[in-house]
Amino acid sequence: MIEVSLLTGALPESGTVVVAVGVPAKLGSAAATLDQTSGGTLSKALEAAGPLKQGKVVDLVLPRGLPHARLILLGVGKPEGLERLDREELGAGLARKLQGLGVKEAVLAELGGLELGAAPAEAAADIARGAALATYSFRQYQRPEPEEETRFEQLTLQLAEAPDDAYLGAIENAVAAVERARDLVTEPANMLYPESFAKRCLELEKLGCEVRIMSPAELERLGMRAILAVGQGSVRPPYVVVMRWRGSEDEKPIALVGKGVCFDTGGISLKPAAGMEEMKWDMGGAAAVVGAMHSLAGRKARAHVVGVIGLVENMPSGNAMRPGDVITAMSGKTIEVVNTDAEGRLVLADLLHYTKEELKPRAMIDLATLTGAVVVALGHENGGMFATDEELASKLLEAAKSVGEGLWRLPLGKAYSKHIKSQIADIKNVGRGREAGASAGAVFVQEFVGDVPWAHLDIAGVTWSSRDLPLAPKGATGFGVRLLDEVVRLTCEANKARA
Ligand code: BES
Ligand code: MN
Ligand code: ZN
Repeated sequence: MIEVSLLTGALPESGTVVVAVGVPAKLGSAAATLDQTSGGTLSKALEAAGPLKQGKVVDLVLPRGLPHARLILLGVGKPEGLERLDREELGAGLARKLQGLGVKEAVLAELGGLELGAAPAEAAADIARGAALATYSFRQYQRPEPEEETRFEQLTLQLAEAPDDAYLGAIENAVAAVERARDLVTEPANMLYPESFAKRCLELEKLGCEVRIMSPAELERLGMRAILAVGQGSVRPPYVVVMRWRGSEDEKPIALVGKGVCFDTGGISLKPAAGMEEMKWDMGGAAAVVGAMHSLAGRKARAHVVGVIGLVENMPSGNAMRPGDVITAMSGKTIEVVNTDAEGRLVLADLLHYTKEELKPRAMIDLATLTGAVVVALGHENGGMFATDEELASKLLEAAKSVGEGLWRLPLGKAYSKHIKSQIADIKNVGRGREAGASAGAVFVQEFVGDVPWAHLDIAGVTWSSRDLPLAPKGATGFGVRLLDEVVRLTCEANKARA
């Protein structure tokens, strides 16, 4: 990630300085000083540039009378109604623009005197976070970049006074958590398979998370036949990882559960070749859970949270499960596997049953790239949300809105449960073809949650983006990390006074 640093003294005399400007042309205190010492050069330049709309970036190369090499104006928009997400997007737009201009380092002049909907130091942190999120890159498997592709590397925040010690660490943690999820999602399946994914989870121990890796033999002992059936076609056996962050005395944890299909060929119900490479990111739910655990542990959230992920590869082979097979899930329910490509729900079946029985959560939220149908319904603009609990549903929608990771609620219900009736087993793993495919997946999963308050997020449309997004370059979005962090804040931490 870009390096974020602090400056409490005067602005430097060289390099690039970014000055935020409100509407109508309003200069912050730092900018006003600059304007004075330069005999009004800045206000004159602003007059020429016209009113700066929110997010507009104007590059003033070598303005006469100013000591800086380069001055960049950033329009921060109208005084009312700026929220954290708006400030993050300001930072994102700024960083993209600076990168495009070939600027490697810049100083953001102090924001005092501007109305940004937050105190200057908080607003600066939001801008920095947005800048870092938007300039993510994954270059693990490429030669060093050519010179002409200079990356934006460092943002220095000028503050009126030194913030508390945790200030920079908090920015770093929030970004690193999202980057961890994006890295996992981006890794190809020959590098990131169930065992190697499980091992990477151990990195969370450094943050104070407990991490327990359950081996294939242990899954056998527990009777997780549904996960094992999905994995039996692969030479790489499945693993389950349980992570725990105990940041409060609360007995019952909130459980985050993720589908981690490291590669989904479809199995014997083989997917077509075109686009199959995308199925490396069929573990986006698991990645979001790992990223969220990172975020929570890293900021020492005052909450008790468990993360449970099922890591498996869905491959065709002489040993693979067949269409028509009947398997017995850990819960004892029998499942007719009509289509081996509907494997995610089989993974969630055992994960949710295990979580409910062994970890006794107060609520469970699962995330899974579960259906193509949810992409048909909602496109890439929102994840699909299904919930049995109104309180949990409303907290999720609130969190989604505040972090800019959209969710839209879709229906469960008896009528949809009929879609998964089987002739030979308790349930079957597909619904009625093209009808309500996302709901069919959700009611299948619901069979394994008992009466624990539960929400299911079908994130097949939002884990990966073929276009740049406000806070993410195209590719892995990290969807779910910020959302889960925020929903834990709203459900577990809101009523706990600061220690
Ligand atoms: N991983 C896929 C769903 C998916 C599709 C994710 C597109 C991301 C982008 C899932 O395992 C799957 O194959 N689902 C099937 C279910 C069907 C066979 C009932 C689907 O959606 O076609
Ligand atoms: Mn599939
Ligand atoms: Zn899948």
